[in-house]
Amino acid sequence: MADGLRKGLTSYGDAGFSLFLRKAFIKAMGYSDDALDRPIVGITNTHSDYNPCHGNSPQIIEAVKRGVMLAGALPMVFPTISIGESFAHPTSMYLRNLMAMDTEEMIKAQPMDAVVAIGGCDKTLPAQIMAALSVDLPTVVIPVGPMVVGHHKGEVLGACTDCRRMWGKFRAGEIDQQEIDDVNARLAPSVGTCMVMGTASTMACITEAMGLSLPMSATIPAPHAERFRSAEASGKVAATLAKNKGPKPSEFLTPGSFRNAQVVLQAIGGSTNGLIHLTAMANRTPNRIDLAAFDELGRDVPVLVDLKPSGDHYMEHFHHAGGVPKLMAQLGDLIDLDAKSVTGETLREIVAKAEDVPGQDVIRSKDNPIKREGGLAILHGNLAPRSAVIKHSAASPKLMQHTGRAVVFESVEDMTNRVDDPDLDVTADDVLVLRNAGPKGAPGMPEAGYLPIPMKLARAGVKDMVRISDARMSGTAFGTIVLHITPESAVGGPLALVKNGDMIRLDVAKRSIDLLIDEAEFAKRQAALPPATTPDWAKRGYAHLFHTTILQADDGCDFDFMTEKGKG
Ligand code: FES
Ligand code: MG
Repeated sequence: MADGLRKGLTSYGDAGFSLFLRKAFIKAMGYSDDALDRPIVGITNTHSDYNPCHGNSPQIIEAVKRGVMLAGALPMVFPTISIGESFAHPTSMYLRNLMAMDTEEMIKAQPMDAVVAIGGCDKTLPAQIMAALSVDLPTVVIPVGPMVVGHHKGEVLGACTDCRRMWGKFRAGEIDQQEIDDVNARLAPSVGTCMVMGTASTMACITEAMGLSLPMSATIPAPHAERFRSAEASGKVAATLAKNKGPKPSEFLTPGSFRNAQVVLQAIGGSTNGLIHLTAMANRTPNRIDLAAFDELGRDVPVLVDLKPSGDHYMEHFHHAGGVPKLMAQLGDLIDLDAKSVTGETLREIVAKAEDVPGQDVIRSKDNPIKREGGLAILHGNLAPRSAVIKHSAASPKLMQHTGRAVVFESVEDMTNRVDDPDLDVTADDVLVLRNAGPKGAPGMPEAGYLPIPMKLARAGVKDMVRISDARMSGTAFGTIVLHITPESAVGGPLALVKNGDMIRLDVAKRSIDLLIDEAEFAKRQAALPPATTPDWAKRGYAHLFHTTILQADDGCDFDFMTEKGKG
């Protein structure tokens, strides 16, 4: 029998009196003993006027409650913080670990036998899953689902790959103010998460591949009736988990589950952010994401899903083509089909039920891939001793091997101030370098790695250049962009040593990124770096905690004391 309202009572001493008190207070809401004596399913509420991506969450919560009650348990909704990508200052990444801590502590603090985590906007699913893996209470995750697509002049539009593309056209003078205003109202035509293969979609797909959410739940569009039926079904599953006291995440997630997540991340041409989040999630368990093995995996796993920004379609098309189960079916023996889902089924059983959609061209077969290799590659070199990442599925083939002159920006602010200066000494063959934009440096590792093409080059028709930084990039962006250079420049990483005019060599086939200066000069510049100091912004509060304990990108940017290793 589940613990229900009795859970955690021992902390009060007199268990009988404590339960009496708990019941007395909660009865103020009109509950009966019949309701209160049942297993409890906690449901996170991340609804916020600042988070349009979660705009359907009240309706999802209603559906989950219905499912929980139909299965004979009691649903209890509780709030946590919510992070909407476009309104989170300084960055949403800065707040991810705060949300993970909030969610973890609220699950622990309140009596519940299972939890349903409803999230979706980029950092929310990773935060909730990091929490759930640490608490290790039976958990069902529900992504809020992607937006439906927009339309403009006969063209399909989606947030926010097309935000960038259309803004690029506006910057280049190809479309006027009136048209960009029209586009602005059509890019996000419904609630839900960005409907391209950005971070939100990437994390939803990974979550489903790991079996933490129900089959098809990653791709059902946010406003569709099916989304709410899936939520109702998730509520029923959670009630069953609550009654049976499991399985807990630790009881069904295997190393194969984490490997499946990596395979799917490569095969969807997923967001680079997905790698950071998956690393952070794994580090909350005894599992690890080994970047060398991830890169190796990428050489065997083709990109099969034809979605923007690597391909042509949008999430609703992926859904109608069969979603993640169909993708895993196409990946065949690259997936560990013995891994389990929270529903109790194996992936083999789920894949066997994948829908066959005649004529669909969104989920390709292995012999007709979008790209023969996976979407993400890990680079090393004297510029990135611990690692850097490139989404080569969304990069220009002609720039994959490129040597160019460095044009250095000291910070995001410096870049913003100078990148469009007509006097900036820059050509299309140069390498744009942005530093002090890593986890500590900015802080919170902004999505500034998609450095804009300098205005004068954009106007001359330049669409892509090699751009490198210790920042992140939106999963919805396209270009030859090296990210997450680790260690970051703010902690003395070699990116701090680059000077204007130095030559930088990128060779994706060789997985290398190097600063072409001799060792003596390298050492001299390193010795001349100023010592790290605590900036003013990091002197108090959460900022202080963040600055003193944030790990680098290759460790998932979690706080050092929150990881499984941090326990010991
Ligand atoms: Fe929320 Fe893109 S802004 S998912
Ligand atoms: Mg994003």
